[in-house]
Amino acid sequence: MGTNSVLHTELIVDKITIRGGSHLDGSIEISGAKNAALPCMAACLLTDETLILRNLPAVVDIRTMEKVLGTLGTHVSHETTPSLLSITQSLTCNEPSEYKAPYELVKTMRASILVLGPLLTRFGKASISFPGGCSIGARPIDLHLEVMSKMGASIDIHHGYVEASLPSGKRLKGIDHTFPYISVGATENSLLAAALADGKTILRNAAKEPEISDLISLLISMGIPIEGLGTSTLAIEGQRQAHGTHYTIIPDRIEVGTFICALAITGGSLCLQGVVLEHVSSLLEVIERSGCKYRYDVTKKVLHLERSPSDRLEPINISTAPYPDFPTDLQAQFMAVLTQADGTSTIIENIFENRFQHVMELQRLGASIDMDGRTARIHGPTLLSGTTVMASDLRASAGLVIAGLAAEGTTTIERIYHLDRGYAHLDHKLRSVGVEIERIK
Ligand code: UD1
Repeated sequence: MGTNSVLHTELIVDKITIRGGSHLDGSIEISGAKNAALPCMAACLLTDETLILRNLPAVVDIRTMEKVLGTLGTHVSHETTPSLLSITQSLTCNEPSEYKAPYELVKTMRASILVLGPLLTRFGKASISFPGGCSIGARPIDLHLEVMSKMGASIDIHHGYVEASLPSGKRLKGIDHTFPYISVGATENSLLAAALADGKTILRNAAKEPEISDLISLLISMGIPIEGLGTSTLAIEGQRQAHGTHYTIIPDRIEVGTFICALAITGGSLCLQGVVLEHVSSLLEVIERSGCKYRYDVTKKVLHLERSPSDRLEPINISTAPYPDFPTDLQAQFMAVLTQADGTSTIIENIFENRFQHVMELQRLGASIDMDGRTARIHGPTLLSGTTVMASDLRASAGLVIAGLAAEGTTTIERIYHLDRGYAHLDHKLRSVGVEIERIK
């Protein structure tokens, strides 16, 4: 395997232009889930044997995690499929010369914090730049640190770094822990730490997202016994060592949801290939209520969606919440759809306190949205008219793309490096189903 140029295009300041008004028609292959791939990559730190991961998405965050693991002495190589959509990676981590995730990398991707648990449990030390603020909210890491500390690590914050260590020759110890509220990242870090801990760890009120189940399945295949897959109580039997393995990452349910929103706003017909239906059931339920039709081919894992552009879109009220409820990562995209619903819809954002930055940009396109704390009221249908808008974070960018599909004239989206962090070739995929979309360097 060698390195590949697809992953080296990070942070190019490109723009996207979209001419609105096309109806979607065609078929799209869904990429692997970025948010499942990142913790699975961090699991390579648990063993000196090689971990082979398949179906990783060709996105910048995967490249950033490769760099983080590289600074920790991991030998990383990858190859890309001929379609350039998916990557197979080989990761081998022998003893690192440093145990440090530096500021330069952590500031570009908070998920770098996921190396804390595996470093600490295998090597007894870790130094991770403290993640700073983030455009969608404060996003502290107190829940991660509480677990490490309860497992026996001493934790200090020095010069902007979380310094975690264990007395020489000691292992983390298994604990019985109840999370005060649900955190995806803290559940993942705790699972990784518990894998090589001394004794059994029980995690209660754990996150149940499909990405967590993917990490659990990987850890099981690395030789770590874990009970409770898919539930909020997980029991991990810590082992002295983990093994290398081959593992295929699940499809990206947020990418699926983004294309469902695209179809809902434009109308037309779309086949999404490589979908796990239950991962997107909360969105499909509201999409169906708002007037879209779908059918699923369980054998081929293909989701067929249809909406006649002349059909009325019903207004809908939703609240974001942990899986299996409506995901916060689809809130911006769905808000764009609701600008075209016939009446007033409400969205309550329960996960992140500042995740409404796309609202101002949607208003610039002509949307009628009132804000009251964590509640947004969207009055539709409004005629959107294309202009230049700016992306503030990954999913907000996707929301602006969805709005651009329905806007009259041309919408230009700036700062699309956010989009490239998490979507594999979104512009190519939309073009292949009839959207007039261009990337301008
Ligand atoms: C992950 C996802 C992100 C998604 C989010 C919620 C990845 C790489 N990112 O983020 O796309 O939007 O789940 O589904 O998988 N919190 C604390 N203290 C902590 C940890 C979290 O207060 O120590 C708070 C957060 O600020 C937030 C809430 O808990 O308000 C949930 O966050 P969490 O589930 O941890 O999100 P991430 O793992 O960061």
